[in-house]
Amino acid sequence: MSVLHPDLLSAGADQALPVHVILKDGVLDPAVAVWARAHDFTGKAGQLLVLPDPKGTLAGALFGAGDSFDPGSARGLAARLPAGVWRLEGLPVAEAGAAALAFALGAYRFDRYRTRSDTARPRLIAPDGMDVAGTLRIVAACELAREMVDTPAADMGPLQIETIAREIASESRATIAVTEGEALLDANYPAIHAVGRAAAPARQPRIIEIGWQLDRTDLPLVALVGKGVVFDSGGLNIKGGAGMRNMKKDMGGAAHALALGRLVMQSNLPVRLVVLVAAVENAISADAFRPGDVLNSRKGLTIEIGNTDAEGRLVLADALCRAGEHTPDLTLDFATLTGAARVALGPELPPLYTDDDALAADLLEAGRAVADPLWRMPLWPGYRAAIDSELADVRNDSAAWAQAGSVTAALFLQRFAPETGVWAHMDIFAWNPRARPGWPEGGEAQAIRACFAMLAARFPVAR
Ligand code: BES
Ligand code: MN
Ligand code: ZN
Repeated sequence: MSVLHPDLLSAGADQALPVHVILKDGVLDPAVAVWARAHDFTGKAGQLLVLPDPKGTLAGALFGAGDSFDPGSARGLAARLPAGVWRLEGLPVAEAGAAALAFALGAYRFDRYRTRSDTARPRLIAPDGMDVAGTLRIVAACELAREMVDTPAADMGPLQIETIAREIASESRATIAVTEGEALLDANYPAIHAVGRAAAPARQPRIIEIGWQLDRTDLPLVALVGKGVVFDSGGLNIKGGAGMRNMKKDMGGAAHALALGRLVMQSNLPVRLVVLVAAVENAISADAFRPGDVLNSRKGLTIEIGNTDAEGRLVLADALCRAGEHTPDLTLDFATLTGAARVALGPELPPLYTDDDALAADLLEAGRAVADPLWRMPLWPGYRAAIDSELADVRNDSAAWAQAGSVTAALFLQRFAPETGVWAHMDIFAWNPRARPGWPEGGEAQAIRACFAMLAARFPVAR
């Protein structure tokens, strides 16, 4: 599990090498102008040029800002600067802080399975005036989510998710309850049980529930819910090879809910918190649920199974219903729910669904402010009929005529979402498919920082 690590250092600025942030065609110190010209350094966004001193050792670096500096570009710096201790020069405090956060996010590498020793990495002196501890908590949350997504399904099964949840709970003296296997039936989680029951005995389905300061009934209750499908084979409606290849990431929603939950608790936001994760493997065996089966759900609505590959909404149905039993004021769920979300908006822009305009506005604004974007999509009532079933109360694969698969999946969840408070659903991709410096291909944290910024603005820590 990730711990707060010292990628951002808070002392030693005097010995650190400067990274000069240079606007396009910006004025350069004459001592470096010749060197810059010789290397075609013009200050174009993202350009990096290392500077030598007369002895040939490192003296600093120039970093291109283009027409205006994008702090997010500092993600690439962490991946490209030579090892050493660096400081950012020439930035206002707010931009320097945002750049330092980006730098730390860009320093993430997933090397758990590499046996050769790690190469040294650059580190950054935290700019004066920034909240180093708060930033490192945010970075650690994003890293936790990315690490969990990057870890292969063989090593990130339901039990491993449970173990991480137990660590998170114990760190913050939260309660944790896990209901597993056959006990899911006694405890009335029939949909979670049905989806996960085909897995191997050591990988039985479970619902994990963390509760934090629930006795503080003066505080608003926030519920975080995550889809934790540790591997999505598609079930009997088996996926093809290409579609299955990356399905270790199908627990990305659970990783996001746990990471955000840890961040809320570590930051001591004045809320009561419930984190609910449904951890299951959508596997194939003689005991697998089938197309044509009708499942019961915790809410009592019966669900006709049109396609066993639409499993995420089934486990979320029970988890969202459970969230509702806490009468939350605000519920957020995270799920790698549909391929259709990526078709609609691509891998970088997660669809946000909520019927509450104020919550949508706050989340979109927070996302813009911290460069962790979301895009609102409609819970379009006209498509509600697409999940009607002839046989049962609802069906899990929507009728083809509605087409908008991410929307109809969200409409399905809406049937099970808490009736108290406000609810938002994020259909995340949790993956960066395009490798760039600071943006390695692999697990990506999406909407964690936006959601945290929204929560911290709505529920500020008293000071
Ligand atoms: N986990 C997938 C959705 C997914 C696929 C997310 C690829 C990210 C990338 C989900 O369980 C699924 O298989 N959804 C189906 C639903 C369909 C069968 C109604 C889909 O989107 O194709
Ligand atoms: Mn699926
Ligand atoms: Zn899935």
